[in-house]
Amino acid sequence: MNQIDTLQTEERRYPPPPEFAAQANARADIYGRDFDELWRTEAGRLDWLEPWHTLYEWEAPYAKWYVGGKLNVCFNCVDRHVEAGLGSRVAYHWEGEPGDAETITYADLQRRVVRFANALRELGVRKGTPVAIYMGMVPDLPVAMLACTRLGAPHTVVFGGFSADSLSSRMNDMGCEVLVTQDEAWRRGTTVPLKRTADEAMAVAAGVRACLVVRRTGGEVPMTDGRDRWLDELDVADDPESCPCEPMDAEDLLFLMYTSGTTAKPKGIVHTTAGYLVAVATTHDYIFDLKADRDVYWCAADIGWITGHSYIVYGPLANATTSVIYEGTPDFPDKERWWAIVERYGVSILYAAPTAIRAHMKWGPEHAGKHRLSSLRLLGSVGEPINPEAWVWYHEHIGGGRCPIVDTWWQTETGMIMITPLPGVTTLKPGSGTQPFPGVDAAVYDESGNEVGPGGGGYLVLRRPWPAMTRGIYGDPERFQQTYWSRYPGIYFAGDGARIDEDGDFWLLGRVDDVMNVSGHRISTIEVESALVDHPAVAEAAVCGRNDALTGQAIVAFVTLKGGHEGSVEMLEELRNHVAEVIGPIAKPANVLFTPELPKTRSGKIMRRLLRDVAENRPLGDTTTLADPTVVEEIRERSTAGGPDE
Ligand code: WTA
Repeated sequence: MNQIDTLQTEERRYPPPPEFAAQANARADIYGRDFDELWRTEAGRLDWLEPWHTLYEWEAPYAKWYVGGKLNVCFNCVDRHVEAGLGSRVAYHWEGEPGDAETITYADLQRRVVRFANALRELGVRKGTPVAIYMGMVPDLPVAMLACTRLGAPHTVVFGGFSADSLSSRMNDMGCEVLVTQDEAWRRGTTVPLKRTADEAMAVAAGVRACLVVRRTGGEVPMTDGRDRWLDELDVADDPESCPCEPMDAEDLLFLMYTSGTTAKPKGIVHTTAGYLVAVATTHDYIFDLKADRDVYWCAADIGWITGHSYIVYGPLANATTSVIYEGTPDFPDKERWWAIVERYGVSILYAAPTAIRAHMKWGPEHAGKHRLSSLRLLGSVGEPINPEAWVWYHEHIGGGRCPIVDTWWQTETGMIMITPLPGVTTLKPGSGTQPFPGVDAAVYDESGNEVGPGGGGYLVLRRPWPAMTRGIYGDPERFQQTYWSRYPGIYFAGDGARIDEDGDFWLLGRVDDVMNVSGHRISTIEVESALVDHPAVAEAAVCGRNDALTGQAIVAFVTLKGGHEGSVEMLEELRNHVAEVIGPIAKPANVLFTPELPKTRSGKIMRRLLRDVAENRPLGDTTTLADPTVVEEIRERSTAGGPDE
């Protein structure tokens, strides 16, 4: 049975538990709130240096929000809480993978951020200086981000699992002048050489003139005189007066988050200051039912992705949340690690990806069973469709049958959660994101732009602007227009398939473009293809994602080699490692199939759809447009011969 059939027969219902509903931040009438009133009122969550005068201006595809307002993100996330007497509240319970830990209060956070900001200033960072951050999940990662916002310097955080190439291309695209990194990161008991990789990247990113290095493992790393500085060797002040928060315009650039699209070049998704912060704080409050004075909230994502930006750093801190940050992998030193963390810190809200949930499911409920998880009261899911089995397992074995689950659909581009249940209000259906967040105008359209009614399926679109929406692709307005706004003029095309059921609830069905979703990471088929053809033995490559019980999708590559090269197990490993080097280990194909030819249309387009059919062992779809229909049959024969698929 495929995903769609499963969803259509899913009949389990989970109405809001009355005790939860009685204390929930969200009430049913929130759906009736006037759009303008909602976002006017919610702006009152923030401290403004100058009030805004216009709620929003909209000229598709560009929005401006809270026009005329001035504010500072760091002040709103840190300083104002200290000023309000919350200095002793814990901002982050941080736990390192080797078992070391730090408790960071809001007062500590303020001192660390000020010190970091002064260090950045020492390296020449000023308002508007683009800064790249390439780090693991250490406390100085959110500190570095906040320090940038304190100075008004836009940042781009590059996930620590990315390669030197991926890092340098992002730094070059943004024109970064300063890079923040760390000596090494801990991962599954071994060290990841971040500074060394950063050195390789800086060698081809001429604009980067300074590098600030945080000590984490204490490992030896090369330092380049005149460019690299250790954070702990800089003698800088940590009192807030020594580094005032820069007043920023509502629409000033806050950060870029690079994400994969349907070409080889990742796009720098632009997020600006006020609308983003209002929106992530608001959604974080209602969707996670946050009680800032008593909840312990844990979003187990990596800060290097949008989920971490919006829901580990900016949203939670704006709401004065106490959060958990864990540095390492869920199975180190053993498969109980997550549940030990939940017990140790009394986590009450857990937000995780379906891939992680499926991994725990595979490892078995006995690991969670050894820990007291009674502090949990709400669970969340993000990043990919959650299959009903995983949902129900999460609900029973982690949530003890009492915790609502919020299955939140959104994207790097949307900045904030867009489709989600509201806990205490919504009746849950395993596998459904249920309803658009109040004020979000989501719909499902068919190919020709007609709205699809209840029971129908098609493409997910968003029809009204929202405060956290991206302000574009950095330096590429044409691509922005083309990718999101041209299929249905003036309407945002998300690139996801969706279905609406008879109750009007949304079911998200995955990407409809050449973007794969592997363990909740967005990876472009074309990016992997160009990494493959970058190898001297490869003539041509086609890549597709096939369904995978654990990772959602797994990458399968079809490769034709240049004359003189043989497809062998060694070659297969070499190509997999090559992709890991060029992009990062997350993009490593699960399998590589060698084939003398790729299926192409008469106009020369590779038919990935057919390759997906082959990869998933399905009957082949329409092959009549193929230049040579025998090619797929031959590939199929070879593929069933099997490969060392992991
Ligand atoms: C997918 C992550 C189904 C979707 C926040 C989207 C989901 C892409 C869900 C964005 C969900 C995210 N149910 N699919 N709850 N959440 N997706 O930019 O395909 O890394 O387009 O943002 O993830 O991935 P991104």
